[in-house]
Amino acid sequence: MNIQYKTLDQLKLMRKAGLVVGQALEIMRAAVAPGVTSLDLDAIAADFLKKNNATPSFLNYHGYPNVICASVNQEVVHGIPNERPMVEGDVMSIDFGAIVEGWHGDSAISVGVGAISPENQKMMDVCEESMWRGIAAAKVGGHLTDLSYAIEQYIISQGKYGILREYGGHGIGTEMHQEPHLLNYGPAGMGPELKPGLALAVEPMITRGTEKMRVLSDEWTVVTGDGSYAAHFEHSFALLPDGKPFVLTALDGGRARLGALGVEISDLLS
Ligand code: MF3
Ligand code: CO
Repeated sequence: MNIQYKTLDQLKLMRKAGLVVGQALEIMRAAVAPGVTSLDLDAIAADFLKKNNATPSFLNYHGYPNVICASVNQEVVHGIPNERPMVEGDVMSIDFGAIVEGWHGDSAISVGVGAISPENQKMMDVCEESMWRGIAAAKVGGHLTDLSYAIEQYIISQGKYGILREYGGHGIGTEMHQEPHLLNYGPAGMGPELKPGLALAVEPMITRGTEKMRVLSDEWTVVTGDGSYAAHFEHSFALLPDGKPFVLTALDGGRARLGALGVEISDLLS
């Protein structure tokens, strides 16, 4: 397996990219409202990149036409921004990546539009918490699929959700997608050993129904096989030379959410 282990100096650059992504997502989150379109969010992201001397990771990636992915309701991931106004009750998943000085950051959030149903809110909360549990399971000396196991076990403990099989997390660095691929399900203790310098994007995708999906004729948009609603969260994190994690795309480095799980973050990037 060809894993790119990063030095502390390289991770400092990845933190710059991660902060641009995390800050832009917070601005987009605040802009989500009935009447706003996903193309409006795309414009916010493009503008933020320009102001921060960063470039988009997604635009032109295998021909992808926009700066963000915006996936609404039964769309899981890779939705293309459009002119449809959001309506109250929608579940909007926003995925965004940026490059700073050659290094990538990649993160995604699902956001409710106005008041959403308790079932959809719970799905979003379960998806997000499973991502944090996955990151919290990453220990130097452990193995890659310790994260997969933690993600899946949390999700199935919370109810009947579908976990997409075809997509997962990935190494990240000088390319958006690097080895290793990270499944969101399966047994622990397998795959490469976790070492300092590893940087991973962790991104559970869950549905309120089937784990099956299909891709629309636009060749990008992934929708649930049964029309059930879906959620997607993603953070990029690294294991630092001190053996502790740091969440590169989280504004607080993951201190609050990992702390709640008993995991201390590294202070090497603060
Ligand atoms: N953020 C997505 C991922 O993690 C990538 C978006 S696909 C693109 O895999 F084509 F839009 F870039
Ligand atoms: Co990703």
